[in-house]
Amino acid sequence: MRYEELARMRAGEYRKKENPVTLGIESSCDETAAAVLRGAREALSSSVYTQIPLHRKYGGVVPELASRSHVEKIGAVVTDALEGAGVALADVDAIAVTNGPGLVGALLVGLSYAKGLAYAAGKPIVGVDHIAGHIAANYLTYPDLAPPFVCLVASGGHSHIVLVGDYCRFSLLGRTRDDAAGEAFDKVARALGLPYPGGPALEALAKEGDPFAYRFRTGFAQDDSFDFSFSGVKTAVVNLLHTAQQRGGEVRRADVAASFQKAVVDALCVKSVRAAKAAGVPALALAGGVAANAALREALRQRAEAEGLRFCVPEPRYCADNAAMIACAGHYALMRGAPDPLWLNAHASRELA
Ligand code: KG4
Ligand code: ZN
Repeated sequence: MRYEELARMRAGEYRKKENPVTLGIESSCDETAAAVLRGAREALSSSVYTQIPLHRKYGGVVPELASRSHVEKIGAVVTDALEGAGVALADVDAIAVTNGPGLVGALLVGLSYAKGLAYAAGKPIVGVDHIAGHIAANYLTYPDLAPPFVCLVASGGHSHIVLVGDYCRFSLLGRTRDDAAGEAFDKVARALGLPYPGGPALEALAKEGDPFAYRFRTGFAQDDSFDFSFSGVKTAVVNLLHTAQQRGGEVRRADVAASFQKAVVDALCVKSVRAAKAAGVPALALAGGVAANAALREALRQRAEAEGLRFCVPEPRYCADNAAMIACAGHYALMRGAPDPLWLNAHASRELA
C-alpha cells in the first residue's frame, strides 16, 4: 500500500481509538524535544535537550549552531522519549511535529526526522504551529479547560493575544508591533550584564529591587488596540544605563530590573485582561517561555480573577519549549482533519490560522 493511503487509513483508526498515542517532536529554536502523549492530555514522557550553554557565549541563538546541534541530538532525544514512556515506535499511532514559525534550518531537522520515522513506520504525520503548541500546553495542566478562551502567548519570538475559538481555530486579537516580550527581557538583561537567556536572570535580579524606583512606559499602553510595543522601553533602559555610565552616576541594577519587569508585566496584563473581557470568554490563559515568570503569573492571576475570569497557566516545564505541547496540539488537529502529506514544508514565519 502507498504511504499516503496507509497514513489516511491509520489516521482514521487514530480517531476511533480511545487513547491514541502521539509522538511529538519540536526543534524550532534552541531546544531539541520529543514527547509521548496518551489520549488528548496525558504526557507519558517529555524529553528536552537545551542548547542554552552552546549559545551563551554568543549572547543569543546562533542559527547554524542550533541546526547542527539538533542533528546531533534528535535521535537520542526521540529514543529517550519513547523509552521514558515505555512505548515502541510500533505503538505510536501518529507523529506531530513543529513546522513553523521558527529558525528554518532548525525546524527542518525535526521535520525531516519526523518524516523519516513516519514513512519508515507507516504512521500519519501532522505539522503543528509552534504558537498553537504553546497554547495547548494549558490542556496538559488543566484537564477540563476547553475553548473558547483568550490566551496571551509571550515567548522569545512572539507576544500574541489569541482568541481560541476552538481547538484548531484561532483569531489574533493583538500582537507586539516590534520586539517580543521575551526578546525585550533578553536585550535588557544583556545591557545589565546578565547571561543569556536573560529572562530568568532578570527575574532573579528584579526580586532584590524596587519596581517603583523608575517609571518605564511601554508603547500603545493607553490606546484601544490589543497591541504592544516593547522596543521603546528596552531603549529607555539601555539609555539610562549608558548615561549613568558616561556620567559615572550610580544605578541600582536591581531597581532597573524590577522597574522594567513591572512595565512589561503591567502592559501584558492590562491588554490581555481587556481582550478577554471584550471577547466575552470565561477564561484567560497564559503560555510561552515568559509565562515561567512568577511576577507575570501572579499579576495576571490577580487581575484576571478580579475581573471574574478563570486564570490558567501551564506548569513551568510546559511553558518553555517542549514537545508534549506539540503532541497535544497535533492530537486535536488529527481529530479534526486529515494528516499532512510528506511534502509538508517548514516555515520561518506565518500567521496562526
Ligand atoms: O517559548 P520559549 O521557550 O521560546 C520561544 O518560542 O521563543 O521562550 C523563550 C523566552 C526567552 O526570551 C526567555 O528569556 C524568556 O522566554 N523567559 C523568561 C523567563 N523564562 C524564560 N522571561 C521572563 N522571565 C522568566 N522567568
Ligand atoms: Zn516557544
